Amino acid sequence: TPFPCFQTGNAGFTKHALPSDTAAQPRIKKFQVYRWDPDSPGDKPRMQTYDIDLNTCGPMVLDALIKIKNEIDPTLTFRRSCREGICGSCAMNINGGNTLACLNKIDANINKPTKIYPLPHMYVVKDLVPDMSNFYAQYKSIEPYLKKRDESKEGKEQYLQSVEDRQKLDGLYECILCACCSTSCPSYWWNGDKYLGPAVLMQAYRWMIDSRDEFTEERLSKLQDPFSLYRCHTIMNCTRTCPKGLNPGKAIAEIKKMMATYKEKKAAAAV
Ligand code: SF4
Ligand code: SF4
Ligand code: FES
Repeated sequence: TPFPCFQTGNAGFTKHALPSDTAAQPRIKKFQVYRWDPDSPGDKPRMQTYDIDLNTCGPMVLDALIKIKNEIDPTLTFRRSCREGICGSCAMNINGGNTLACLNKIDANINKPTKIYPLPHMYVVKDLVPDMSNFYAQYKSIEPYLKKRDESKEGKEQYLQSVEDRQKLDGLYECILCACCSTSCPSYWWNGDKYLGPAVLMQAYRWMIDSRDEFTEERLSKLQDPFSLYRCHTIMNCTRTCPKGLNPGKAIAEIKKMMATYKEKKAAAAV
């Protein structure tokens, strides 16, 4: 299967008795979930409502989705793997915000349904599973790895870095590429084919400022067009939504600054 992260069966999930299993009063909460099955001809996207007793469910939205899949409707499809905010696969839109289902606590107010959609403005493969092909192709395009002019020493010695230089990567390397930020960015919604979006740009910046990398200028020059970088209008939805607390909006602003100095340097060299 091209999408190995799909949850396709019940294997691996054991129902544990929760301390509150014995609670007398069930606390039924409604979960309204986006459904669409491309394999059923003529199927139209719709919302499906599931009732879950919060007394017998784990605390996170991912727990509720797994419970629905295991106990109510095995056809519900979503991605998940680590259930601890590390793999990035359970990114979805919950109650209007992009976030990770495994880090998002179920709102205990049982009078208010929880609404769950796939990440916005992405093609949908099925139910809550967005097509990430364009996002990954964009990530690949920024060459997210160390590049050296002379590669003859590759694998023979360590490329050392000072403590200070290493610290410059803090707040950047932690990105798990969940795409919550990019899919919350209006510029990315409208120009997702040509604008790289905050997640990918932050990783471009991460390699630009890595003291061991020797291709900073080339990396900058690759973004020198009206779309790749400059579609960012500093709306900052990206930073507001990042479930890992990172700041892609700031990274983009830093690239813009680097672009200005690099262009000035280039112009001075040409005189
Ligand atoms: S700051 Fe830039 S990347 Fe972030 S949401 Fe706004 S336009 Fe998009
Ligand atoms: S910056 Fe945050 S929201 Fe964006 S992809 Fe990385 S972890 Fe996800
Ligand atoms: S399941 Fe891995 S981040 Fe949520």
